[in-house]
Amino acid sequence: MKVIGISGSPRKSGNTELLLKHALAAAKEEGVDTTLLRLSGLDLRPCNACLICRTEERCPIEDDFTPVYLKMKQADGIILGSPVYFGSATALVKTLIERAGYLSMHNGHPFKGKVGGPIVVARRAGQNFTLAQLNFWFHILGMVVPGSTYWNMGFGRDKGEVTGDEEGMRTAWNFGKNVAMLLKKLNS
Ligand SMILES: Cc1cc2nc3c(=O)[nH]c(=O)nc-3n(C[C@H](O)[C@H](O)[C@H](O)COP(=O)(O)O)c2cc1C
Repeated sequence: MKVIGISGSPRKSGNTELLLKHALAAAKEEGVDTTLLRLSGLDLRPCNACLICRTEERCPIEDDFTPVYLKMKQADGIILGSPVYFGSATALVKTLIERAGYLSMHNGHPFKGKVGGPIVVARRAGQNFTLAQLNFWFHILGMVVPGSTYWNMGFGRDKGEVTGDEEGMRTAWNFGKNVAMLLKKLNS
């Protein structure tokens, strides 16, 4: 079983990545394979509403989206991390969820039954909204989102600062554990 952690921060090795890596390490401890995928540096353009994906399982925009989509399809679990930007998910994350969401929901619902959920981080505010925003995406696509010991959020501004948020790190860890445990139960 494979769990993919997707970091939607434009900043490499930042707080989103640290929380995701922590969740993935917990999942790995439960015996599942884990991979981290960074959206940073990828050419990802917004959905242009051409609607071709309503009749064919492809997105005609020629950028880096398709390999990411295929990795998401192949995974049994998806953990999607985003920093909060102006109270919301980053543009990179929005682009990914719009395109992967529409493409999948019109082509056999391949994400249905996958396990996963969001993890968000901010300096000060916007975590609740962003967490809810991303949970809506997981739910509309039929994915199963386990809980943790708090909502999946961390506090931190500069790179590495989130490691000082002990409860945020612990919540990410427990979420990773629950993703893996649920996956194992669903597949036993
Ligand atoms: C363009 C931009 C907008 C941001 N908006 C918010 C915000 O609305 N609320 C907040 O608390 N922090 C905000 N931040 C701070 C980031 O959420 C914070 O630095 C976070 O740790 C970045 O995660 P990263 O290290 O994974 O990139 C913003 C940062 C940037 C660059």
